[in-house]
Amino acid sequence: MLVPKLRGLPRRRWNDHWRETEKEKGLASTQAMPGAPSPAMLSVAGSDKPANSKTRKAAHILVVDDEAHVRSMIAATLERQGYEVMLASGGREALDALEQDSFELILTDIVMQEGNGLALLESIHDQNPNLPVIMVTAIHDISVAIDSMRRGAYDYLLKPFERDHLVATVQRALEHRQALQESRTYQQNLEQVVRARTEMLRQAMEDLEHSYDVTLEALGDALDLKDSETEGHSKRVTAYTIALARAMSISPAEIKVIARGAFLHDIGKMAIPDEILRKPGKLTAGEQEIMREHCARGYHMLRKIPFLAEAAEIVFTHQEHYDGSGYPSGLIGSAIPVGARIFAVADTLDAITSDRPYRVARSFDAAREEIIRCSGSQFDPAVVEVYLKIPNELWLELRSEITGQNRRFSTFDISHPLGSPKD
Ligand SMILES: [Fe+2]
Repeated sequence: MLVPKLRGLPRRRWNDHWRETEKEKGLASTQAMPGAPSPAMLSVAGSDKPANSKTRKAAHILVVDDEAHVRSMIAATLERQGYEVMLASGGREALDALEQDSFELILTDIVMQEGNGLALLESIHDQNPNLPVIMVTAIHDISVAIDSMRRGAYDYLLKPFERDHLVATVQRALEHRQALQESRTYQQNLEQVVRARTEMLRQAMEDLEHSYDVTLEALGDALDLKDSETEGHSKRVTAYTIALARAMSISPAEIKVIARGAFLHDIGKMAIPDEILRKPGKLTAGEQEIMREHCARGYHMLRKIPFLAEAAEIVFTHQEHYDGSGYPSGLIGSAIPVGARIFAVADTLDAITSDRPYRVARSFDAAREEIIRCSGSQFDPAVVEVYLKIPNELWLELRSEITGQNRRFSTFDISHPLGSPKD
């Protein structure tokens, strides 16, 4: 880019300008000023007040200008304000200084004999985009100064400028930088706090969910005590249901609901009189009717508990048949919740392969034949199809893990490795 050749005011004019400023303020020095300004000359009303204490002490400022007397004047003014100032006569020297030291602010001339101020601005922002840069230029190049702000300069100073204007601009830039830093630090701290709190919340939810499941297991154990015939049945049927649901690519969140429904499917039996529940012989029609109430009773027990409300639907429908011949509502096909359709297969699988007082357990092959036979009537053919793809070894393994001493997963562990039983 073409930048018009810019030179600062001649030294004599700068000195005149600054001396005139002193006079206007009634503080002009009586000393001659052959070169760098004397401390007396720099003693401008307002400028001697300490700069903002937040920015004054630590601020390290780099002044870049190829005119020695301009550098010196700026340096003297800023040092008097308590800033630490380093000087550079061009772009190369400035970049060297930036490599070796860190600065809070850069003041740079735009057109210098060695290195362009705009190129320096770009280099600085490439390396440190948050470092404020004030461009110093002559009045007739205001368009270049404005352009430099579009490129990320914080502000510009037009030569000749008054010292208190210089001090005010520098202070504003440093305060801006500090505000940015504080905002960044605040944001970082906030992000850390949010991350930590999110993790705490996640952990608390996990603990809460675990507590729910422990409570459910206790409920299941209570039912086992009342209805010893089904001891272990709830846990096994839950494991089978989870395995089938996973094979059907049902989402983990939904599997959790289904697993709770499967585990608590017979919870309504708590309300069934012992003489019916434990009757060794065949139930009468009236007793059967009472027994069938266990679906609705279980549903009413659970639906009031928020985290079991969805699972209650499975409890209510777990005795429905795919062809509508089940109870309590005679629902047909997809009107039966998918969890209940999956459960139905798992329930029969466990019932056939478990001992009952009136018969011994049959094999998993026998269960397979029975499930195939009832596909489309009692069972959803889609669930049966998935069930048939799973080898009997997996069901055997799940069963032995639940009934054996070496249980390796909890009742509601939905991550049991269905596809890799040797894990
Ligand atoms: Fe049942």
